[in-house]
This record gives sequence, structure tokens and C-alpha cells, in this order.
Amino acid sequence: MDNTDSELTIAIVINRLKRRFADCGIADPKGDARVLTGALLDLDLTAMVLQPDRPVNPDENDRIEMAAIRRCAGEPVHRILAMRSFFGLDLHLSDATLEPRPDTEILVEIALPIAQAVVGRSGRCSILDLGTGTGAICLALLAQISQASAVATDISEAALRTARANAERFGLSDRFQPVRSNWFEGVDGLYDVIVSNPPYIRSGEIADLEPEVRDFDPMVALDGGADGLDAYRAIAREADGHLEPEGRLILETGFDQHAAVIALFDDCGFICQSRVQDLGGNDRVLVFSRADSETV
Ligand SMILES: C[S@@+](CC[C@H](N)C(=O)[O-])C[C@H]1O[C@@H](n2cnc3c(N)ncnc32)[C@H](O)[C@@H]1O
Repeated sequence: MDNTDSELTIAIVINRLKRRFADCGIADPKGDARVLTGALLDLDLTAMVLQPDRPVNPDENDRIEMAAIRRCAGEPVHRILAMRSFFGLDLHLSDATLEPRPDTEILVEIALPIAQAVVGRSGRCSILDLGTGTGAICLALLAQISQASAVATDISEAALRTARANAERFGLSDRFQPVRSNWFEGVDGLYDVIVSNPPYIRSGEIADLEPEVRDFDPMVALDGGADGLDAYRAIAREADGHLEPEGRLILETGFDQHAAVIALFDDCGFICQSRVQDLGGNDRVLVFSRADSETV
């Protein structure tokens, strides 16, 4: 981009970026040009559309140029911005955290009424989020349900630092307790709702992932072992000791993993209450109760 251009405007910058991204083979050049420009100018989409002639000054243009270079080198837009919107929260990302995905919002949509029903019965709801990353799932739930509190675990101390900072930014830290833990190892007590989006990619399929995933999301957030089910096995083995009798365990899964995950939890005394697919018809979320629950 020519930084000596004295008449740079939002419309010109976006058009140039769009062409450049298309030349680099980026799948959605227009969308990426808009998201990057908007975020770096601190403008939402409407504000950008309403003021195409707003000048872009040289400092702003330099920032956009640096981001464009990274994007053309294959770095995902939200990694460049170190920020991703999830269920209405602008979450900070770090190298140690997965970029939260829209698919995971389905899990939050399923968990919300379940947690709200617990609040309706008892006035409060305790949530355990296993493998919290940015804190996406449990911060979204805490933001919606003021009577809920959460313990959020991760094996990565760096991820927990990011999650803790996100909780502070949203004023949720008094109800958010980060705990470093290998699944349940460092967890005490019983919870009304246990949520998790664990790593579930088969190790042998990691190499075939899109470079934007494989090269930028942390491996510990992706690799689910040889059959992709290691984390589910670990969670199924110990969930019984941490779920309230009428509690619910809500898990995200890979696109073809429902049957295998249901079988694993069945072996450990859990009944599948519902299975949810995403708009593409892929397996996405499972809800389990204890087999001895009275509300099965
Ligand atoms: C797929 S990411 C999900 C992150 C976040 N919950 C989300 O949905 O965006 C899986 C998370 O599990 C964490 N993790 C991996 N192995 C773990 C283990 N043994 N115990 C606890 N957390 C683990 C990773 O560090 C990562 O943050």
C-alpha cells in the first residue's frame, strides 16, 4: 500500500486490501479487508459503511499495512487482531489459546437454559469449564447469568492468564476461578453444569488441517490422540465424582464423534439426554446426565 498517498479513505483502503487479499488466494478477501480495517480503525461495520470517505491517516495506514502483510502470509484475521468476538464478548487471544469458533456458540446456547433452570430451582448455579482456553464458554455463560459462578481449568498456565484477563475485562472475575488442572486432577467439589470443548482432532489428521488452524492454534488445543477421543475418555472416567446428582455435562464433539462419545460415557454411567448437530448437519454437542439422575 502506498503510504505517501495523501487522499487515502476507508473505501480506497478496503478496495486495495480486497484486491491484494484476492491475489494472495484468501478465501474471503472482502470480509477480511473489512474486519481488519474496521478493527484497526476501531470502527464497526455500520460506521465504516456510513463513512467511506473518512480519511485514513499515515499511522493508521501503517498499522493496516502491517496487518495486511501478516494476512497475506497466511495468519488468520483474528490472530492478527488478537481478539475474537464470541457470544457478544470481544475476547482477547494469546498464542496459548484456541481462537474460539462460532460452532462453540451452539454449546453456549444449549447450556444457557440448562444453567438458568438450575438457578430457577436453587437460586445459583456452579459451572465447571474443562479446557477453558480464552474462557469463552464459561465467560459467555457468566455474562448471561448473574447467579452463576465458574471454575475454569486448563492444562496451560498461559491460557489461564488470558482467560483471567478476559474475565477481568468483562467484570466477571469475582465469579470466575481459573485452576491449572489436567482435566479433573486439580478440581474439587460437585458442579451443576460441566462444560467442555476438549481437543478432538485425530493426531493423524492434524497435518491435513487448514494451515490457518494447524499453524496458529496451539497443538494442545487440537490434538485428541490417535482416535481423537483421549480427552473424552479422561473426562468420562472422572466426571461422576464432580457432577451434582441432577447435573448436566455438556460437551462439544468433532463432526463424526457422537456415537463414539456416547458409548464412552455410557460405559461410565451417563445417559445422553440430547445430541445436537450444527447447521451443516455435523455432530456438535452432547448433553449427558448421570444414569441415576431423577430427571433422566
Ligand atoms: C479445543 S480448546 C477449547 C478452548 C475453549 N474452551 C474454547 O471453546 O474456545 C481445548 C482446550 O483444552 C485445553 N487442554 C488440553 N489438554 C488438557 C488437559 N489435559 N487438561 C485440561 N485442559 C486441557 C487446551 O489448552 C485448550 O485450551
